[in-house]
Amino acid sequence: MSGRLQGRAVIVVGAGTRTGGTGNGKACAISYARAGASVVCVDNDEQAAQATAEEILREGGRALPLCADVNDESACRTIVETCLSAFAAVDVLHNNVGVAVGHDLLSMSRKEWDWELGVNVGGMFMMCREAIAHMKNVGKGAIINVSSVAASRPLPDIAYVASKGAVNSLTLCLASRYGRYNIRSNALLLGYIDTPAVRPAWKNERVRQINLRQVPMRRFASPYEVATAAVFLASDDASYINGAILPVDGGLCVSNT
Ligand SMILES: NC(=O)c1ccc[n+]([C@@H]2O[C@H](COP(=O)([O-])OP(=O)(O)OC[C@H]3O[C@@H](n4cnc5c(N)ncnc54)[C@H](O)[C@@H]3O)[C@@H](O)[C@H]2O)c1
Repeated sequence: MSGRLQGRAVIVVGAGTRTGGTGNGKACAISYARAGASVVCVDNDEQAAQATAEEILREGGRALPLCADVNDESACRTIVETCLSAFAAVDVLHNNVGVAVGHDLLSMSRKEWDWELGVNVGGMFMMCREAIAHMKNVGKGAIINVSSVAASRPLPDIAYVASKGAVNSLTLCLASRYGRYNIRSNALLLGYIDTPAVRPAWKNERVRQINLRQVPMRRFASPYEVATAAVFLASDDASYINGAILPVDGGLCVSNT
């Protein structure tokens, strides 16, 4: 495969889709490979990591599955080391992991709060630290963090909302601090993406119609529309884009419904 990311080494954390089908991380991993990159497909579900890597290999791309938990500090180190030993570089880090307990303020326990923030922000912080330590030495790199419009259009799950707000701030901080090393850090601000993780909520037709009406474009996105934006941000086509929080939301951010 050849393309905009020919010869690049990419780590996608949360590259699987537990329930089968294709989520955001999987679509991004496949699209990076289609653009010519070698991809380490990281997931804490071994089968999910394997399935994404196998799909890439079946298409003739280069991929390595890796079962690892982003909430584990030593695992984050291992992820970066594995990419370096398999593909001799870490050009792009794509942080896709985002968990949600689904509880509001009054029903959320301190343990649930800590877990959600720990995985969504702590994991991202540790992965960025490991990858940027390497990228700084080689003088180039791209970080892509997955955020949500929930950061500014809050859902009841207070930890999820706070974690995505923190993802945005963390991304801006990285962009400001490491741009001088030719490391670009950007975030994707996702709206309603039609993935197996959210589809069950839309089995309720009333909820589906309410959500559709909130989107100016009156449709949900395919995860491959997220992937197109990710490949762009990872590529040299985005060579001067640093510190962008790019909505991929059909206009949900600017909707007044
Ligand atoms: N689908 C949407 O509508 C939507 C909207 C806004 C934001 N997002 C964001 O998109 C991202 C994920 O979307 P998705 O559809 O790919 O979700 P997903 O849940 O299908 O995929 C996430 C993957 O991450 C893995 N994972 C979970 N915890 C992990 C951990 N501790 N370590 C390593 N891997 C772990 C899961 O096993 C899963 O395979 C999240 O950050 C989410 O907040 C999605």
